[in-house]
Amino acid sequence: MATNLIDGRAIAEQLHADTAQRIASLKSRGTQPGLAFVRVGEDPASRVYVGMKEKTCQRLGFYSETHVLPQTTSQAELLALLERLNDDSRLHGILVQAPLPSHINSATVYSTVSPAKDVDGFHPVNVGKLMLGDPAGFAPCTPAGVQQLLIRSNVNTDGADVVILGRGDIVGKPMAAMLCQKSKGANATVTICHSRTRDIATHCRRADILIAAMGVPEFVTPDMVKPGAVVIDVGVNRIADASAKGGSRLVGDVEFSRVQPIAGKITPNPGGVGPMTIAMLMQNTVRAAEQTLQA
Ligand code: GUN
Repeated sequence: MATNLIDGRAIAEQLHADTAQRIASLKSRGTQPGLAFVRVGEDPASRVYVGMKEKTCQRLGFYSETHVLPQTTSQAELLALLERLNDDSRLHGILVQAPLPSHINSATVYSTVSPAKDVDGFHPVNVGKLMLGDPAGFAPCTPAGVQQLLIRSNVNTDGADVVILGRGDIVGKPMAAMLCQKSKGANATVTICHSRTRDIATHCRRADILIAAMGVPEFVTPDMVKPGAVVIDVGVNRIADASAKGGSRLVGDVEFSRVQPIAGKITPNPGGVGPMTIAMLMQNTVRAAEQTLQA
């Protein structure tokens, strides 16, 4: 039966095959790409995300190491660790998992990671390169993954009306910067909606491509979706559910069961955007290693 699902797991595997080949090529030239993870505190979601990223590193053949620091770690201690990782030639990428404890200034932390190792794309130099359309920079993994989902599902963004729900630094803002570039997989007319937007539903109904990334459980309902529109659900929200194991379950920002029948294409959640975030992190890291050989 024909399906309108965008299979993020299958598309991530296509990218992993490319990454694994490039790792093999680097290894044959004496370089094993390396990635360091830094996690501060025991946020349950962050533990799961870093665990999944570590496993993928092992599967594809990266060198990886994980630094878990206590919640009480001072900013100075974290910055000192990052300076050491910046100077470690085994490491080509460094990822500091967000969110960080509130006593730590995230902007200072992300500015301390060397731009050449900033495979998360959070350093101001890489944010600037993304804005300027310079492909030598590193783009944040989740919006880069969404763009790849669109390209590899043959969704034409050229001239399309794209509405992005959410203006965060990790997804909404970089997603908008990416899709308005004059380039392949972009050239879209982009609207960002956020908590102060008037009449969000009207904006959404105009969208050829609707990207939900605001972190509100099942916010997007069928009345907000133009029939045939492409719907991308970036949200991961834990909600209480007495009938679920552990008393809670995960839902996206889209009310999937009612939106799927009217969408042209839609990402499942899980199995849509999540695997692509990891795939793009691996792609960024292998490119960071390749760039050290070209430097
Ligand atoms: N937390 C949620 N998404 C991300 C991400 O893409 N990178 C990092 N470092 N932390 C995150």
